[in-house]
Amino acid sequence: MASASQNRAPKVVSVLMLQLTLLLLLLLLFSSTQVLAQSSQPVFACDVASNPSLAGFGFCNTSLGVSDRVADLVGRLTLQEKILFLVNSAGSVSRLGIPKYEWWSEALHGVSYVGPGTHFSSLVPGATSFPQVILTAASFNASLFEAIGKVVSTEARAMYNVGLAGLTFWSPNVNIFRDPRWGRGQETPGEDPLLSSKYASGYVKGLQQRDDDPDKLKVAACCKHYTAYDVDNWKGVDRYHFNAVVTQQDMDDTFQPPFKSCVIDGNVASVMCSYNQVNGKPTCADPDLLSGVIRGQWKLNGYIVSDCDSVDVLYNSQHYTKTPEEAAAVSILAGLDLNCGSFLGQHTEAAVKAGLINESAITNAASNNFATLMRLGFFDGDPSKQLYGKLGPKDVCTAANQELAREAARQGIVLLKNTAGSLPLSPTAIKTLAVIGPNANVTKTMIGNYEGTPCKYTTPLQGLTASVATTYAPGCSNVACATAQLDDAKKLAASADATVLVMGADQSIEAESRDRINILLPGQQQLLITEVANASKGPVILVIMSGGGMDVSFAKTNDKITSILWVGYPGEAGGAAIADIVFGFYNPSGRLPMTWYPQSYVDKVPMTNMNMRPDPSTGYPGRSYRFYTGETVYSFGDGLSYSKFNYELVRAPKLVSVPLEEGHACLSSDCKSVDAVEQSCQNLAFDVHLRVRNTGGMSGGHTVLLFSSPPSVHNSAQKHLVGFEKVFLGPRTHSFVRFKVDVCKDLSVVDELGSKKVALGEHVLHIGDLKHSLTVRI
Ligand SMILES: *[C@@H]1O[C@H](CO)[C@@H](O)[C@H](O)[C@H]1NC(C)=O
Ligand SMILES: *[C@@H]1O[C@H](CO)[C@@H](O)[C@H](O)[C@H]1NC(C)=O
Ligand SMILES: *[C@@H]1O[C@H](CO)[C@@H](O)[C@H](O)[C@H]1NC(C)=O
Ligand SMILES: *[C@@H]1O[C@H](CO)[C@@H](O)[C@H](O)[C@H]1NC(C)=O
Ligand SMILES: *[C@@H]1O[C@H](CO)[C@@H](O)[C@H](O)[C@H]1NC(C)=O
Repeated sequence: MASASQNRAPKVVSVLMLQLTLLLLLLLLFSSTQVLAQSSQPVFACDVASNPSLAGFGFCNTSLGVSDRVADLVGRLTLQEKILFLVNSAGSVSRLGIPKYEWWSEALHGVSYVGPGTHFSSLVPGATSFPQVILTAASFNASLFEAIGKVVSTEARAMYNVGLAGLTFWSPNVNIFRDPRWGRGQETPGEDPLLSSKYASGYVKGLQQRDDDPDKLKVAACCKHYTAYDVDNWKGVDRYHFNAVVTQQDMDDTFQPPFKSCVIDGNVASVMCSYNQVNGKPTCADPDLLSGVIRGQWKLNGYIVSDCDSVDVLYNSQHYTKTPEEAAAVSILAGLDLNCGSFLGQHTEAAVKAGLINESAITNAASNNFATLMRLGFFDGDPSKQLYGKLGPKDVCTAANQELAREAARQGIVLLKNTAGSLPLSPTAIKTLAVIGPNANVTKTMIGNYEGTPCKYTTPLQGLTASVATTYAPGCSNVACATAQLDDAKKLAASADATVLVMGADQSIEAESRDRINILLPGQQQLLITEVANASKGPVILVIMSGGGMDVSFAKTNDKITSILWVGYPGEAGGAAIADIVFGFYNPSGRLPMTWYPQSYVDKVPMTNMNMRPDPSTGYPGRSYRFYTGETVYSFGDGLSYSKFNYELVRAPKLVSVPLEEGHACLSSDCKSVDAVEQSCQNLAFDVHLRVRNTGGMSGGHTVLLFSSPPSVHNSAQKHLVGFEKVFLGPRTHSFVRFKVDVCKDLSVVDELGSKKVALGEHVLHIGDLKHSLTVRI
């Protein structure tokens, strides 16, 4: 026993030593892969300089067209090799000089660290973090959408050049913000199909477009999540199991338009199919939705990618097919090209062997992926010798880029309430400002989700303190605000000349996989606000930082709360932008991109009911400003200015005639609407010409929103946005705005079967309080 135990001691030591050695080896291995992952070299194929034999390959020959090069490449690959290129962590083929490529990078509102394709390092420690998309959408400034995309793609290219980023970014998210509870509504451009469409095409152009060659790509964008995806996790219903039951009419006039515009107007290089089912079919396995619509009707030039990992989900969670091979076959045959995840890497070869799918379909999918990489210059050899090759760390977080982040936040922030004598605060008259609330001094909260490391942060407190002396109390330990700490906050408010309360939400309240149940301010926030307001000596400014709308009816009607601002998640410079508005250095011009419903709405309406249109037989109230007529807290398009604007109609027709070919049925019988088909619609457009006047004493931006109410046929929207135009006007100046209205595109409605129709009869155009009647006849 004794000797045995004596013997054991050295063994324990040697085992320990062995473990230590192994650990050291592992550490070494890890740190060397770390070094590899963070090498400052970009990843690219056809490195002819270090391997001259590659020059002979057609796919490396830049004088050939993309399709010839792709055909040459896939012609050299075995089935097994092609399958390596169907997944996001693509494989390498060293005999052809093709390195591994990681497809998954994100750039929703700045280059993001979400996804394995992009990293920050000491070389590039951060990138410009723009406001979360819902706030940028609130700017209603289409050129801003594109300007942001352009900066983001420049920073992305700069990071690619030093080996820190990929070239394929799975952004933007253009799903319609259908229900206020959706945790990912913050990522979207809001509830309106037209605004979302303009955002999609604008941001995508900013990311992708090159001046030198319209077919080449600066970086590749991706519109997601196709389609009717907007339930994450609500009362036990999650996105992996949810079947969205959608009518053809809602599909065509609500859920599809942003994707259509993204592909057709934005020329996007990719569309991502979602996790959910639509009418009983997983979107990633639906040939009508993928091959039929995206490729067939919209003519996508690029690749269709699955969410991560939708193919696994349709097999393992939804049990849509009996075997994994069938799941692989059915999704590729539906039109899927790339699988985020590993499912297709594991099961595609067996699917081919089992005869469920032919190799030609695999070749086709891989070809779509390769073609995208070709357009990005990935097969053109050394990137430093190409356009954008000189971009590097110096081009990230430049002063101009960071200024645009601040400008975007300023342009988006929405002034919802302003009692005379409240905002703007005078930075000279205010001696002390009480700054209160759990979001008053936050950093990360301001950048929302799908974020990157920002260049730097300016918190609201820091922004306000730059102009006046402040006192600060958080009032709650976090946004959940289980117990409001009233005493300090009330004391500060009572002794300050004005009070700013920065309240709202963060990712613990609304996030991916986290939908809300109620839309009131969390916990005791309302108590804190009301008590602080009552104790305040001066004006009380309530700042709501959130993605989704909040039921703040109590604040709207409380006279002690003199102003309300909604600031979304305003990005890295959010605090500076809030201060710019609070002190009147910038005149607010944002408008709400979504309806703010009362809590009673969500108590009554299941989040899972996808219908946009009301149903009088069940009392279902419908959704969005287009269909919902009930009470709102604030409405789509709401947003005040420190100035006043009015409109005067200069010119618009009172009558539009739709020409019909001889023998058309509507010529002999009474039709309520006619098909919006090519022939009768050609050149059927008119101008709406307006004078917009700034009648106030402060210069500022102002978005003119043009709505149309069609005659009530086909259960159509009560009104819909036809166009928007943002103008900047000095005090007491005017300018002219001209909308080109295409009758078939802009005034048509979608009927119950999904066909576009132009209603005959009286259409009413609205611009603010101005209304203009227009008769459409045959
Ligand atoms: C590249 O393609 C062009 C056009 O077909 C051809 O003339 C040229 O010889 C090719 N270059 C190489 C290196 O093969
Ligand atoms: C494979 O190709 C053959 C010949 O073109 C065709 O008959 C067959 O239907 C294809 N199989 C599948 C699963 O697509
Ligand atoms: C506000 O936040 C900044 C950044 O996190 C921090 O440095 C500062 O100490 C905070 N100020 C107060 C008064 O807590
Ligand atoms: C407001 O404050 C006054 C004292 O200044 C107090 O009498 C009153 O009860 C307060 N009202 C509310 C609603 O808290
Ligand atoms: C719209 O955004 C662009 C880009 O930032 C900016 O130059 C322009 O002034 C903005 N328009 C208005 C009216 O604010």
